Amino acid sequence: MVDVILGLQWGDEGKGKIADYLTPQYDIVARFQGGPNAGHSLEFEGKKFVLNTIPSGIFHKSTLNLIGNGVVIDPVRLKEEIARIAAECPDYADRLLISLKAHIILPTHRILDAASENAKGENKIGSTLRGIGPTYRDKTGRAGIRVGDLLATDFKEKYEQTKNAHLKQIHFLEFSDFDLAAEEIKFFEAVDFLKTHKLINSEYFINKAITDGKKILAEGAQGSMLDIEFGTYPYVTSSVTLAGGVCSGLGIAPKHIGKVYGIFKAYCTRVGSGPFPTELENEIGEDLRRIGNEFGATTGRRRRCGWLDMVALRYTCMLNGVDELIMMKSDVMNAMPQIEAAVAYKVDGVETDEVPANLCTSDVAPIYKQFDGWAEDLPHDLGYDALNANFKSYVSFIEQSLNTPVKVISLGPERHKTIMR
Ligand code: IMP
Repeated sequence: MVDVILGLQWGDEGKGKIADYLTPQYDIVARFQGGPNAGHSLEFEGKKFVLNTIPSGIFHKSTLNLIGNGVVIDPVRLKEEIARIAAECPDYADRLLISLKAHIILPTHRILDAASENAKGENKIGSTLRGIGPTYRDKTGRAGIRVGDLLATDFKEKYEQTKNAHLKQIHFLEFSDFDLAAEEIKFFEAVDFLKTHKLINSEYFINKAITDGKKILAEGAQGSMLDIEFGTYPYVTSSVTLAGGVCSGLGIAPKHIGKVYGIFKAYCTRVGSGPFPTELENEIGEDLRRIGNEFGATTGRRRRCGWLDMVALRYTCMLNGVDELIMMKSDVMNAMPQIEAAVAYKVDGVETDEVPANLCTSDVAPIYKQFDGWAEDLPHDLGYDALNANFKSYVSFIEQSLNTPVKVISLGPERHKTIMR
């Protein structure tokens, strides 16, 4: 069976911590989409790591970790990431498997990302500039380079062709702020390093693991509201971030999907441009950012903050078929006397509990419900029943609105600050 953990908001929900926390129950952790635009933070034993492409099970000595075919890999970033974890996981290479069908982010994909964003001016997506969009564009345009191509004798030729096609586009966009020669030196070194790893036909590997009764956790990246199909298009990422993406991103049949864990913050954040109905551009938003340390794990960018949006959460629970909810960072709101959550929207003057087809062009005003805050520190070591009554009624409200149980509550970045119900 393949269980899935994914974010229900705009990313940064804390998937890394929870995937790491759940890992002991699994034999394999697999990434199925996204790339180094992700930044999954893990903290344990006083140490902190940020993973971009490597699955969050890497720190557990008996877990295999698969970078699936749906992921896009930047060899340069992956090499840097491995350097960060190598001392902690000297045996990492025995437990890291990489799909031969995963697409490669070339230096010119990154440059193209910057050139496209630059050309968009005020309408820019706020991309992480990791080359994600251009790489997925080449994949669907049938012009991409995959891990398997790195091993072929004509790789350099293919690389040159692709690079030249990119340079034409970059030139057309009148972008010249880059040093390709320097980037290429690092890229080819990193390609050689990547080739020393276990590069496999991952769809066979994972299906055999399923047949052998292994337990697999598929780890999503970004968030459901950034999904290419159902997110706040065009302010989205370029992959399928929903549970449906697990099948194509790993090569497994829908019948093998088991439990879907949906992870959300007790409030809401978004990084980059695009609609965010419950955004708080005031002191409360500032407090959430400061207390929650809401700055990007990958880019360091300041995250936009706002109240919990139940309309969007209901939508993403529906799209993913969420079985169990995992609630993060409630402790950030410990000092707030009052808390709000959007329960419906007024769209162009009409009340609705649906996310409009185009959130970008609709005039959306959230309708809020108020809650008394719990106004005290929440203990993480006394169990759920011992928690403050106001906090528990906020949790009950969420469970009832989503018709789904909240099974895990995280009250801090470290592994042990987690309450299992
Ligand atoms: P891209 O995926 O780098 O092209 O960025 C597209 C949009 O998704 C931008 O608004 C990014 O800020 C956002 N984004 C991409 N990856 C993440 C993530 O891991 N967490 C949060 N936002 C992300």
